[in-house]
Amino acid sequence: MSGQQVREGYSGTGPGAITPDGCAVELYTRLPVGDEPDVIEAAVPAGAHILELGCGVGRVTHPLIERGFRITAVDESPQMLERVRGARTVCSPIESLDLGEETFDVVMLASFLVHAGDPGVRDGLLRTCRRYVREGGVVLLQREGADFHRALPRERAEPAGYTVRIVSSEPVGDGVRSVRVEYEFADAQWTQTFRSRPLTKEEFEGHLGAAGLKVDRCLTDDGVWVRAVPV
Ligand SMILES: C[S@@+](CC[C@H](N)C(=O)[O-])C[C@H]1O[C@@H](n2cnc3c(N)ncnc32)[C@H](O)[C@@H]1O
Repeated sequence: MSGQQVREGYSGTGPGAITPDGCAVELYTRLPVGDEPDVIEAAVPAGAHILELGCGVGRVTHPLIERGFRITAVDESPQMLERVRGARTVCSPIESLDLGEETFDVVMLASFLVHAGDPGVRDGLLRTCRRYVREGGVVLLQREGADFHRALPRERAEPAGYTVRIVSSEPVGDGVRSVRVEYEFADAQWTQTFRSRPLTKEEFEGHLGAAGLKVDRCLTDDGVWVRAVPV
């Protein structure tokens, strides 16, 4: 374990440090990046200064830096941040991030963090997005796809040589689900159990609105990546 307090309902197993939300640091050093840098690059001005919230080991950060973006990378896990190269790093919970009066061209809240089980945490995450986006800037969010909690268990064998299995998604009350994911490599296995609050389009937009943000456009056909702007 990392020595940090775990978040209630979140846990992880497997080799190496585990973050308060159940992510395994070593696992994230192994996961390849997908199309995230392409989606982001197409949605923001070239060379923008991006505030990346929940950056992990820099899986998405590093390709963005290679493409000429400047990144301030935030995570509450020091073990994750130790692996980040070429970005300014800030170790803090996103909800209580304090960068004074600083603002950014782009604020990014990816990895489905907007689905936090605790509504107080979710609203805190969105307030942070609003607080740090400059006037005329944009907020990029990654939300769950429509079928995320359906047809379980399901698994995907990745070309990089590992299998991801979404084992279960069980209701735990108050509209929240407990999701268990397994990652199987030839030499190691990790699991993560986390809380997710599925959000309808209306709920998602309502929470953004309460934080002073509104959806500008969907960046992907599946509605997973969304660009928002300050109201
Ligand atoms: C699922 S990992 C994804 C990391 C990275 N975005 C990626 O795609 O590779 C989520 C990361 O967000 C961090 N995190 C989750 N909730 C957080 C919070 N409320 N404040 C700060 N960091 C958080 C975790 O420590 C972890 O590193």
